[in-house]
Amino acid sequence: MKKRLLITGGTGFLGGHLLLKARADWDVYAIHRGQTVDAPGIQWLKADLTDPGETASVFASVRPHSLIHAAAMSDIDRCQARPDEARAVNTEATASLAGFCRKTGCRMVFVSTDMVFDGGRGLYRETDATGPVNGYGETKVAAERAVAAECPAAVCARTALIYGIPAFGGRSFSNEMISRLSRGVAVTLFVDQFRTPILVQNLSDALLELAHSDFAGILHLGGGQRISRHDFGLLAASAKGLPAGLIRPGRMNEPRPAAPRPADVSLDSSKASAVLSTRLIGCDEGVRFL
Ligand SMILES: NC(=O)c1ccc[n+]([C@@H]2O[C@H](COP(=O)([O-])OP(=O)(O)OC[C@H]3O[C@@H](n4cnc5c(N)ncnc54)[C@H](OP(=O)(O)O)[C@@H]3O)[C@@H](O)[C@H]2O)c1
Repeated sequence: MKKRLLITGGTGFLGGHLLLKARADWDVYAIHRGQTVDAPGIQWLKADLTDPGETASVFASVRPHSLIHAAAMSDIDRCQARPDEARAVNTEATASLAGFCRKTGCRMVFVSTDMVFDGGRGLYRETDATGPVNGYGETKVAAERAVAAECPAAVCARTALIYGIPAFGGRSFSNEMISRLSRGVAVTLFVDQFRTPILVQNLSDALLELAHSDFAGILHLGGGQRISRHDFGLLAASAKGLPAGLIRPGRMNEPRPAAPRPADVSLDSSKASAVLSTRLIGCDEGVRFL
C-alpha cells in the first residue's frame, strides 16, 4: 500500500509539478482554497492554512506520513505591501503545520527560499548567517526558526529562483519571458542580480526524495549554475531559437520596486549532492525543458 503524502500549494507553480510527479509513489492529498486544478488521481481537501482549525481537520482526515509544504504568499512586493497577511501565511501557518507534524509523527519538508540571505556575498552555505533585505525573506526566516523549534526532525529546503513551464497554475518568470519573446515583445532582465535557478521538475524530484528521507535541518536546493537573470534569458532564448536582441539589460532597483532585492543570493548546494541521489542540474542543461 502506498503512503499518504499531503501537498500544500498544489494549485501553484511548484505544487502543480509535485502533484504530477508524486502520484507514482504516493497516495496524494492536496489542499485548495476553493479552486482545484484538473490533476487526475489527486484527492483534494479545502482548507485555508491560516486557520489552524481547518489544518487540524485536514491532518485528522488524511493522517499523512509526509507533508511537502509549498504554499506561500510568494510575491515579494505583495508581501512588502501586506506584512500582516504575509506573516500569517508564510510564518504562522508554517509554524502551525510544523506543530501538527511533530504531534502526529508526519515527515515535514518545508520549502524555503534563497531570499533569507542579504545577497552581499553569494554562494551561501547552510551554515551562513541569514539577513533578509525584504519582508518576504523575513517571514521565511521566522518560519524556518519556527519549524526548527516545533519539529526538529523536519527539513527546511531553501530553493532558488524556479524556472519551467507551469503544469497548471502559478506564475513562472521564464514562461512569461518566453511568451513575450515569442510574440516579438522586448523584455528587460536584471544584469545585477545573481541566483542559482532551478528547473521546477528537478526541484520536485529533490523534494519528493526528501519526503522519503529522514534528513533533518537546512538543505540548499539551487541549480548547478550561478547566473544573472539577463544571462539566463540569453540562454533560454538561444535554446528556444528566440531573438536575443529583444532582451534588454536592466537593474533590479531601477525603477525602485516595493520590496528591496538582494544582489547575489546564489546557493552552494554541495551538501545536497551528498545527501540526495537527485542531481541538481545547471540551467545550461535545464533550459532544454522550456
Ligand atoms: N517561484 C520561485 O521562484 C520561488 C523561489 C524560491 C522559493 N519559492 C518558494 O517555493 C514555494 C512555491 O512557490 P510557487 O512559485 O509555486 O508559489 P505560487 O505559484 O505563488 O503558489 C502558492 C500556493 O500557495 C497557496 N496558498 C497561499 N496562501 C494559502 C493559504 N492561506 N492557504 C492555503 N494555500 C495557500 C496558493 O493557493 P491559491 O491557488 O488558492 O492562491 C498556491 O497554491 C513557496 O514556498 C515559495 O516561497 C519560490
